[in-house]
Amino acid sequence: MKASELQTVSIDLADRSYHIAIRGSLFDNPLSYAELPKAGAALIVTNTTVGPLYAQPLQKALAPQYAQVYTVVLPDGEAFKTWESLNLIFDALLLNACDRKTTLFALGGGVVGDMTGFAAASYMRGVPFVQVPTTLLAQVDSSVGGKTAINHPLGKNMIGAFYQPLKVVCDLDTLKTLPQRELSAGLAEVIKYGPIADMDFLAWLEANLDAILAREPAALGHIVKRSCEIKSWVVGQDEREAGLRAILNFGHTFGHAIEAGLGFGVWLHGEAVGCGMVMAAQLSARLELVDAFFVHRLTTLIAKAGLPTKAPILSADDNAGRYLDLMRVDKKAEGGEIKFVLIDKPGSAIVRSAPDAVVRQVIDVCCNK
Ligand code: NAD
Ligand code: GLY
Repeated sequence: MKASELQTVSIDLADRSYHIAIRGSLFDNPLSYAELPKAGAALIVTNTTVGPLYAQPLQKALAPQYAQVYTVVLPDGEAFKTWESLNLIFDALLLNACDRKTTLFALGGGVVGDMTGFAAASYMRGVPFVQVPTTLLAQVDSSVGGKTAINHPLGKNMIGAFYQPLKVVCDLDTLKTLPQRELSAGLAEVIKYGPIADMDFLAWLEANLDAILAREPAALGHIVKRSCEIKSWVVGQDEREAGLRAILNFGHTFGHAIEAGLGFGVWLHGEAVGCGMVMAAQLSARLELVDAFFVHRLTTLIAKAGLPTKAPILSADDNAGRYLDLMRVDKKAEGGEIKFVLIDKPGSAIVRSAPDAVVRQVIDVCCNK
């Protein structure tokens, strides 16, 4: 793919359809927003890291479309994905007398995107919003598909809504300022699309990992586009996760336990998902769904992407028990029974339960290797 060409991916959801635009030099170009409904006001929601880098150019780009462009700057980090931060968005909307046509712009990573989406879903029972994702993770996953949420101290993303944006503007140039650790975290969500849906893509990632880590624009453009295509294919069939969409949570059941167990923000979400995919692959192998070669191949790629593959100890007393308790709070759990996304053959995923004893073995092996 030529990095300079505008790529688009459609999300087909009847009257909630929209498209994702992918290229460099996009977020600060007024043309990126020209098709949006005109309104009196826009509110940019960003954070203390991304705001100083990108809020002003976005404000300028939105000026032709909106008479007033306000900005609210949230504290940065997963630990601030809370009611308190959400209220800062509502404060800004109410203090500026924003009406129900006011359009919210989520400028930042998945934390800002998830909170802005939830604020848009609930302010005056719903106002329009646009995703302007600035992390790899947000461009390949969280800005697409309409899942919005905040965390609860007892569980990750437990309070939220399905609410689709009007548009997603993925500007590849914003990835130039992303710390390397965050780039790796984003790669976890990219890698996941291989085992669950497209092993050719996994092979492409294996062959092109150096170019991706060096942030070659063509390589970044390809992974953002292919990831969005796969996510679009899944969300188009199952917007509200009645079934299929759960496969996008490969690695997340273990991963969410790691995030909540260590305290939100200690491991990055993508790091927890990367390690969680290793654990879910191990579980798939112990249930004789995939072979040891598949587990080795996936683990190698995750490690090469700069992600942890050894799971953290969450309790000195009964570590596996602590993991199991945390995983029972997962949104996929039914009647206290944990549901895992497992690989039934490379390129295809299923959702099912597993005996506690086998899950305990996997946790022991992954925490002690
Ligand atoms: P993040 O939003 O915390 O961003 C990571 C860090 O990078 C932050 O410190 C941020 O300020 C900084 N940053 C962002 N853009 C930058 C840039 N261009 N240059 C420099 N620094 C930049 O984390 P994330 O990994 O983007 O998102 C993780 C969140 O996304 C989690 O809360 C997770 O639950 C959520 N998520 C949601 C979905 C969904 O479908 N809604 C999917 C996956 C993940
Ligand atoms: N990231 C999982 C989903 O969007 O369903």
